[in-house]
Amino acid sequence: MQRNIHDLVARMSLEEKAGLCSGADFWHTKAVERLEVPAMMVSDGPHGLRTQKEGGGVNDSIRAVCFPAGCATAASFDTELMRREGAAIGAEAQAVGLGVVLGPAVNIKRSPLCGRNFEYYSEDPTLAGMLAAAFIEGVQSQGVGTSIKHFCANNQEYRRMTVSSDMDERTLHEIYLTPFEIAVRQARPWTVMSSYNRLNGGYVGENRTVMTDVLRGEWGFEGFVMSDWGAVADRVAALKAGLDLEMPSSGGVNDAKIVAAVQEGRLDEATLDKAVTRILNIVFRHIDLAQNPRPALNLDADHEKAAQLAEECAVLLQNRGALPLAPGAKVAYIGGFAAEPRYQGGGSSHVNAYRIESALEAAKAKGRHVRYVEGFPSDRDQREEAEFLRAIEAAAEADVAVIFAGLPESFESEGADRKHMRLPEAQDNLIARVAAVQKNTVVVLHTGSPVECPWADDVSAVLCMYLGGEAVGRATDALLFGEASPSGRLPETWPLRLEDTPCYLDFPGDGHTARYREGVYVGYRWYDARKMAVRWPFGHGLSYTGFSYRAAALSADTLTEDGSVTVSVTVRNTGERAGSEVVQLYVADETGTAGRPPKELRHFAKVTLNPGQEQELRFTLNARDLSYYDPEMGGWYAAPGRYAVLIGHSSRNIPAVLPLNFVTSRARPLTIDENTAMGDLLRDARTAPILQKALARSGAALGENGGGDTEGVMAGEALAQMLDGMPLRAFTGFGGADAAAALPGLLQALRNALPETKNRE
Ligand code: BGC
Repeated sequence: MQRNIHDLVARMSLEEKAGLCSGADFWHTKAVERLEVPAMMVSDGPHGLRTQKEGGGVNDSIRAVCFPAGCATAASFDTELMRREGAAIGAEAQAVGLGVVLGPAVNIKRSPLCGRNFEYYSEDPTLAGMLAAAFIEGVQSQGVGTSIKHFCANNQEYRRMTVSSDMDERTLHEIYLTPFEIAVRQARPWTVMSSYNRLNGGYVGENRTVMTDVLRGEWGFEGFVMSDWGAVADRVAALKAGLDLEMPSSGGVNDAKIVAAVQEGRLDEATLDKAVTRILNIVFRHIDLAQNPRPALNLDADHEKAAQLAEECAVLLQNRGALPLAPGAKVAYIGGFAAEPRYQGGGSSHVNAYRIESALEAAKAKGRHVRYVEGFPSDRDQREEAEFLRAIEAAAEADVAVIFAGLPESFESEGADRKHMRLPEAQDNLIARVAAVQKNTVVVLHTGSPVECPWADDVSAVLCMYLGGEAVGRATDALLFGEASPSGRLPETWPLRLEDTPCYLDFPGDGHTARYREGVYVGYRWYDARKMAVRWPFGHGLSYTGFSYRAAALSADTLTEDGSVTVSVTVRNTGERAGSEVVQLYVADETGTAGRPPKELRHFAKVTLNPGQEQELRFTLNARDLSYYDPEMGGWYAAPGRYAVLIGHSSRNIPAVLPLNFVTSRARPLTIDENTAMGDLLRDARTAPILQKALARSGAALGENGGGDTEGVMAGEALAQMLDGMPLRAFTGFGGADAAAALPGLLQALRNALPETKNRE
């Protein structure tokens, strides 16, 4: 419907405008009845609705389908699946009259210990961003908005409302902002949720650079920013920085501060008008797209969708032959999670699930030969020897033992980080004892984040279901018995032990500050750079069939600044079952310009193939795919030179490597003064000949004397390296009187060769 929002804002009183910038209650924006501005309802969340019941309390939510959590859906490596999940949640949101779903949650998994990792997607910003974009497109295809969260650098729960995430600019852009950037640019979420934490000292909610300059200025975000619940510290500063809506409500206290600031001239009313306009735009978009009458909820149909999604998210981590189980196999099911799966995490994303299906229930329904022994409970770390003995006996008597292990909810939840990376002791213990009597031992994991698996070498197979939603049991059954082939891939590295993780020394910080000293070396970027052994690498996941690649090729061997290159590869299902492969494309910078991780994921695609079937996949690469964030260049930059395009089954299984040359006229600024290193000038085609001439004139003296008496002491590589780092003033120190006198002229000649560079005198 055509509306004049500008006119509406003009008719609002100062108090009405300030009021609109905070919630009416926990879940609604304010209505302005006088002007027929309706309220809009928002609800969590990322993997199902937590919508408060009418007349119910804050934690009393309607029954809704609990879809697989972010940890699981990310393992699908499948944008189409994310769109499906989003569309299903969007349709439920339409049915209950929601304006905005509070998700997706895309914070980077900096440490496996973050209590909220189960909601988040990945340690890799590209994967997180592309999946989030697809989820947003799915929800918003139903005429319901999203709120991508938590913007930004909110990577731990410990002291989350005050801790400062301290990092350099490159790391911020390259790792922590990128998921938001990809999703905002591609999918245009209606809203963004700003996070609780501080960033380099100040609250994110008061950070104009990220919330206005970057989010709106660079990425073109047009919706409104809402605060995380209770995240606002200084309301007026936040409004100025670009935080439009405070949630939930401050009981009028902060609204009054906005009014006073305008009246006292500390806040420009135009800033308030902008925030109000953004909020009204979305409220009315919701009204225009809300279906009337509301469609019916179809929870049974959504439950089926949840089962299908869970099946496509599971990751087969290891299989030495125990899987898939033969249909008639005599199987022992051990572990409380077989009867009571852990399928979601605790906190604001908690869904009042419609119908929970366990693997045991599914096995019974299918008439499988399964004997169940609890062994250990699903909700706590508890060991009882008699129960252990029963489990070991059942395992020994069966053809196969399947242990359903995982983290109890008390180990992993919003609001608290994990203290260690282990499973409950009772579980590690029983797995080891069962494996000792049964060579066909399979471990099924229910966890939102990696756990140490000290028994991995002793068991035959490990199937990770992550937190797979309410129908996870049905999916587990289908995968165990080979009715479906596993096709998930790890969206995060599973390290051998906590001490190996990149931020081990800095997580979660001292209570005030978390120093991100590992920089851009997060996840596989770290393990690969340090050539460390890991339990299972990023991107890893097995199948019941096999895949091979052939004809990997680039459309051209050189990429230019504004051009693109197509990468193609043909994938073949070499096994005897249908299955899905995830082709992963990484880029490696071999120019040596900046410290770069050995490889970085840039694209991926999932393809489903029948036995013997082939399919060609294509990806497009451009300059951004080769780039890193260079603060000195004020943005993304790829140096000219050699790169490699890696096409792999996982980050550590790369069958195809294609060289790619990059050509650009952009160059990092070179400051020319007496302290400029000669190596930098010799690498630039414009300055190299000038310096070479000067060196030829006095090079002998520099070579002999530079850095002291080198004769007989240094040669070859070492000498070359020393010269590379020698500043121009060495002409004065070591070059002799003529060279010293010629230095000012040399500096001028070099500057003239680089007219665009900023020269320091
Ligand atoms: C969480 C958000 C959530 C909000 C509303 C906060 O505590 O951090 O993710 O959307 O509550 O439930």
